[in-house]
Amino acid sequence: MVKLVGIAGSIGEQSYNRMLLEFIRDHFKKTVDVEILDINDVPVFNEDEDHNDNPVVHELARKIAGANGVILATPEHNHTVPAAMKNVIEWLSNNVHPLDGKAVWIVGASYHTQGSSRAQLHLKQILESPGVNAYVMPGNEFLLSNAKEAFAADGSLKDARTVGFLEIVMKKFLTFMKVIEMLDAPDPKSAHEEDMDSKHPVNTTVPDVDMTDPEWVEKAAEKMHAASGGDYVKLDRGLLTVDQLNYFLNSMAGELTFADDNNQFIYYNKTADAAHMLAPRTPDQVGDPLSAVHPDRVIEHVKQVLYALRTGESDVVSMPAQTGPNQHVMHYYRAMRDENRRYRGVNELVIDIMPILKYYLAATGQKLVKDPDAVPMSPITGLDAVTGASAHSDPTKTDATSGASGSKSVEKPAEKPATDATSGASESGNEATVAPAAAEPIDTDALTGASEEPATGYSATEDDAPAKQPAPTPEPESTDTDATTGASES
Ligand SMILES: Cc1cc2nc3c(=O)[nH]c(=O)nc-3n(C[C@H](O)[C@H](O)[C@H](O)COP(=O)(O)O)c2cc1C
Repeated sequence: MVKLVGIAGSIGEQSYNRMLLEFIRDHFKKTVDVEILDINDVPVFNEDEDHNDNPVVHELARKIAGANGVILATPEHNHTVPAAMKNVIEWLSNNVHPLDGKAVWIVGASYHTQGSSRAQLHLKQILESPGVNAYVMPGNEFLLSNAKEAFAADGSLKDARTVGFLEIVMKKFLTFMKVIEMLDAPDPKSAHEEDMDSKHPVNTTVPDVDMTDPEWVEKAAEKMHAASGGDYVKLDRGLLTVDQLNYFLNSMAGELTFADDNNQFIYYNKTADAAHMLAPRTPDQVGDPLSAVHPDRVIEHVKQVLYALRTGESDVVSMPAQTGPNQHVMHYYRAMRDENRRYRGVNELVIDIMPILKYYLAATGQKLVKDPDAVPMSPITGLDAVTGASAHSDPTKTDATSGASGSKSVEKPAEKPATDATSGASESGNEATVAPAAAEPIDTDALTGASEEPATGYSATEDDAPAKQPAPTPEPESTDTDATTGASES
């Protein structure tokens, strides 16, 4: 659900502007989650003081930074913005800039007919000043005049036309927010233009923390006052503490990596230390731009995969990494999109499918045999093998590093240690064993860099040597119920 925060520019016990925000919160609670922030204890702005030293101010900053949009309800004092509102904005434009690039909707109530119109104009000017740099929704002025008579005893607005107009403007603000969110979306015109140095900060980028700092996670978390430990995090369909989220993600059957739409590597689930991971990552890498975790030779290929996901050419790109008789590590790169279908980065899953394959063969009494009719296929799916190569790179060379096309002509130099594309870690050194596959195998996994030699051309047939059957696993009591939710499978 869209999350908005509201601030009334009044610290009085009774405030018509706060009542207006409360009405907006309650009236639209089915479509937006509006949280009204209290500014009563915000001290008078003092440039010598650091907002971090004031819990009220940095809680305000944190809440605004985490919201999709902001509603400012301003009274009018002496034909302009009251001190309480201006004071808050001064705090939020000095050393910390949570309103930067944020969609803002200004409303206002006053005793008289003007409904704080002059204050609203001045507030717009203040919000568009460089230190604040908010995106104020143009036009659509909501001027609640004669505020003393406007509310019913239950706090609702008496006049249906006023409520009708409020609904029209709220709808426009929701659209305005979508437009604003698109404004900062990185927009490369070709794969080659993918910015691997993360120089296009997006609205989730943590400002003023060096991305390559080995302690980026700790410093960014402090900067953003991130939830931690036992703090609850509300998810789309669930409520977990940060600790529970870690237990859950670190016990996943696969290795997960999150690189955002600014191509910054911002998370991986620490299932094991690097030496025991399929696609090794190390804690100090988190925060790095993708360029910092990849050898130059694979960059163009990495860009192709990112561009394919960003532009929607593909929603999933997959390719094998280490392959062999006992291992077939697959990398799945899935585009993440928000409710506006805006690309939000790549979700990478690394998983060894061999245990699943072996279980399936054993459970179904089958075995793998070479398929003489096998049709060579590119080990990469989801990337157009022909146009996968960006205009800026030599297609055959790109294919060679990405293995995207099935062209046999390109012999892979044996010396290339693979690097992982989301974190650039090299994953295995067994370049020598190039599988005699029909399709030229990938030696560099597009996003994870492990050296990959996929074994192709096998298919499963009835296993006629019962001797090899693994001992049947004892059937669980009732297999048709899901252990965690009890949902029946059938
Ligand atoms: C110092 C002061 C100056 C005011 N100046 C104006 C003004 O210029 N225009 C106006 O419409 N109302 C003015 N008012 C009346 C406000 O509209 C009224 O106090 C309103 O309730 C303020 O909003 P609030 O209830 O959210 O605090 C002023 C009130 C005060 C206390």
